[in-house]
Amino acid sequence: MRVAVGQIEPHVSEYKRNLQIIRDVLSEAKDVEIDVLVLPELCNSGYVFESREEVEASAESIPEGQTSRELISWSRDGRFVVAGICERTKEGLHNSAAAFGDGKHFGTYRKIHLFLNERDWFLQGNEEPPVYEHNENRFGVMICFDWAFPEVARILALKQAQIILHPSNLVLPYCQDAMVTRSIENHIFTATANRTGTERGVTFSGSSQITDVNGKRLVRMGLSDSGIGWADVELKLADSKSITARNDSLRDRRPGLYTRLTQDD
Ligand code: ACM
Repeated sequence: MRVAVGQIEPHVSEYKRNLQIIRDVLSEAKDVEIDVLVLPELCNSGYVFESREEVEASAESIPEGQTSRELISWSRDGRFVVAGICERTKEGLHNSAAAFGDGKHFGTYRKIHLFLNERDWFLQGNEEPPVYEHNENRFGVMICFDWAFPEVARILALKQAQIILHPSNLVLPYCQDAMVTRSIENHIFTATANRTGTERGVTFSGSSQITDVNGKRLVRMGLSDSGIGWADVELKLADSKSITARNDSLRDRRPGLYTRLTQDD
């Protein structure tokens, strides 16, 4: 299976331009016969907003919005795509990741760990991160800063995800390394699609990557590369959690000793 990360530079408040950037990267992904594609967080809107009006102007409903429709169309013929979308719902705005496969909307994950000023614009998601089954493959989804909470990747592994599809707008320099660890500790593939560029003084770190179940980087893009980075992966390798002949990263857990993890403070 050919998995890709699409590294692009969206522009805040330029919805139409962003749509064209998305169309271009989808077209490139089709040319290289990608099966599964991840696009960055908030790829339809840009990131560094100055007002609620600006966020509203780029927000769209899923799956009715124009970005969703492009993604739906790309996902026909057995493909699967997850992209970060600035989403409008009845309740308010969400920083979301929408998943589409076979021309259908599989579901939407709403970011549960909001970063910095995202709290000013977006409602926090309140549902566990999802795993979608598609053609006997299992895709887990989380968004950007969720990387800093190892519980998220662990939950996805417990829900039998084989790969974590991870739309991002990274500014801190640690995530790409942390995702290597998430791969190792969960024996899982990861695909982090980051954006590039500088928006209102905030620089994004590019370096989108795909890791294998042992944390090896199969792809690592440059700081400002744009386009597709891809790898051919055998997702079934993530079904075994064996660390040694007598150790297994899920079976050896001691949840009875971890109850502190589910207390609020
Ligand atoms: C982030 O969550 N966009 C850092």
